Amino acid sequence: KYSMDGKVMVIEIHRPEKKNALLPGMYTAMAEGLRHGDCNDDINVILIRGTDDCFTSGNDINDFVSSGQLEDEAPPITFMNALNEARKPIVAAISGLAIGIGTTLLFHCDLIYASENCFLQLPFSRLGLCPEAGSSYLLPKMTGQVRAAELLLLGDRFPASKAKEYGIINEVLPQDEYLEYALDKAKALAALPSQAIQTSKRLIKRGQQNVVAETMKVELDDFSRLLQSPEAQAIFQAFLNKKKNS
Ligand code: COA
Repeated sequence: KYSMDGKVMVIEIHRPEKKNALLPGMYTAMAEGLRHGDCNDDINVILIRGTDDCFTSGNDINDFVSSGQLEDEAPPITFMNALNEARKPIVAAISGLAIGIGTTLLFHCDLIYASENCFLQLPFSRLGLCPEAGSSYLLPKMTGQVRAAELLLLGDRFPASKAKEYGIINEVLPQDEYLEYALDKAKALAALPSQAIQTSKRLIKRGQQNVVAETMKVELDDFSRLLQSPEAQAIFQAFLNKKKNS
């Protein structure tokens, strides 16, 4: 869902009945939102949020079962590229759960605010998969290698307080304040000289964009291969069967 608040475009991930699990059309819509934001002078900042009980539970597992070889122009890849190439600042407001790409997309955002009840998770290895969205490069750069290995290899859920300690997010706020706080920061950014903000963002990310794009390509090959492996497919089926039987 898109909405405008002054010069802030809010993209809300909204599929609450499935914990905001992401379908191809949702990636496409978000990629279009980001590109639209970059091209439109009425938009200075993009804020990404979920619903209050969940940011997103990550990629839809049904989609993992049915997707074949992931091509360069597949919707999740288009979305990751749009994130990596975004010129306008992106603020994230997260609450509840941020799983899989719900966490890796944050590594591309500029400011991230979480509610105190928020948990993040990079469950790729547990699902028989590997890191995506440039996270195998970005996370070690942000946290150092051993912390990145802890989060990406063990794949445990971790609280927002730990994400802040590891330098992955900016602030942890009470549940009833996180969204307003994030929106205030987004509006403050939007009120600053836009060319200066965009230039500063470009300079901060200078040298990183190409490496991230290349990393995403390498990750995609491995991710695609693992996605179709019997090991990963059995894990997805177990998740879906458990749901059917419960
Ligand atoms: N893909 C597809 N469906 C999902 C989903 C996902 N990533 N996450 C949640 N759902 C669905 C559930 O199947 C359930 O559907 P149903 O009501 O038709 O049974 C509904 O959303 C509600 O989720 P539920 O599991 O009942 O809620 P919960 O609070 O018990 O658990 C999660 C929430 C997010 C912890 C759990 O759903 C989960 O582990 N999801 C998978 C997360 C994941 O591995 N994502 C992939 C990242 S790469």
